[in-house]
Amino acid sequence: MKPSLTLYLAAPRGFCAGVDRAIKIVEMALEKWGAPVYVRHEIVHNKYVVDTLRKKGAVFVEELDECPDDRPVIFSAHGVPKSVPAEAERREMIFVDATCPLVSKVHKEAERHSQSGLQMVMIGHAGHPEVLGTMGQLPEGEVLLVETVEDVATITPRDPEQLAFITQTTLSVDDTAAIVAALQARFPAIVGPAKEDICYATTNRQAAVKEMAPRIDALLVIGAPNSSNSRRLVEVGRAAGCAYAQLVQRAEDIDWRALEGAKAVGVTAGASAPEVLIDEVIDAFRARFDLTVDQIETAREDIEFKVPRVLREVA
Ligand code: F3S
Repeated sequence: MKPSLTLYLAAPRGFCAGVDRAIKIVEMALEKWGAPVYVRHEIVHNKYVVDTLRKKGAVFVEELDECPDDRPVIFSAHGVPKSVPAEAERREMIFVDATCPLVSKVHKEAERHSQSGLQMVMIGHAGHPEVLGTMGQLPEGEVLLVETVEDVATITPRDPEQLAFITQTTLSVDDTAAIVAALQARFPAIVGPAKEDICYATTNRQAAVKEMAPRIDALLVIGAPNSSNSRRLVEVGRAAGCAYAQLVQRAEDIDWRALEGAKAVGVTAGASAPEVLIDEVIDAFRARFDLTVDQIETAREDIEFKVPRVLREVA
C-alpha cells in the first residue's frame, strides 16, 4: 500500500503576465517572420520554455553581435541596457522588446529621477540580466548597486541629499524592506517608490508560500537555478519555517529520500515555470503516494499585458 500524503499547491504560482507576454512575443514573431528568430538571452529563465521555443525555430544568443543584421531579434523579459536597442537601430535590424512592462516602469523611474538630478541606488543582485538592463538605462557610475543591508554602509554617493532608490522586481519582499530601512536610516532624504518595485507576481507567490508554510513538512519550488524569483521562493519558505525547501527544475530532480516520512508537501512554481511542469510533479507524487491534492489560494491574478503593436499587425 502506498503511503498517504497531501500535496498543497500554492496559488498563485507559475507564469506571470510578463512571462506569458514574452513567450507570446517569440511565438508570434516566428509566425510573422518565420524561423529563425533570434532571442537575446533566455526569453525567460526556464529550460523547458527555451527548449520548446528552440524547437520552433528560435535561436538563443547572449549578445547582439551574435545575430545577423537581416533576421528579427527579440530582447528578453528581463530588459536590456539602452545600448542594445541603440545598436540594433544602428544596424537597421528588426527588433521586438519583450521587456516586462513592470521592468520598463522601473527603467522610466530611474530616468525620471536622474533627470531631476538624483543619483540612483538600485537594490538587486549583481550580474542578473534585469539589474544589468536597469543600470544600463543611465550612464555608467550613475547607479549604485546594493545587494545586502551591509552594502548600504559601503556606498559613497556624490551627494547623500540627492538620492533615489529603485529595486529589482523579483526580490524577497522582507529582505528588501530591511535594505530600504537601512538606506532610509543612512540617507534620510532618499526618495523611493511608494511601494518597492517588486512586482505583483513576486509578492503574491511569496505570500502564498508564507501562508502554506505552517501546514507542510517540505516545500518544492519548480523553477530554474538562474531564476531570481524562484530562488527567492525557496528562501521565503525556509524563513517561514520549512525545514526542507528545495528548487527543482523537473520531477526527475526530486530527492524522494529527503521526503521520506513527510505527510504534507507544498508545491509552488517560479514566474517562469509552466504549469505542465507542475502537472509532471503531481503525477510523480501520485505514482508514489496515495495522494490528496489541495490548493492554498491567497490571491487571484487577472493581469494581462498586450504584445507590441508590430506583432498585432497583419504581415
Ligand atoms: Fe514582470 Fe514580475 Fe513577471 S516583473 S516578468 S510580472 S515576475
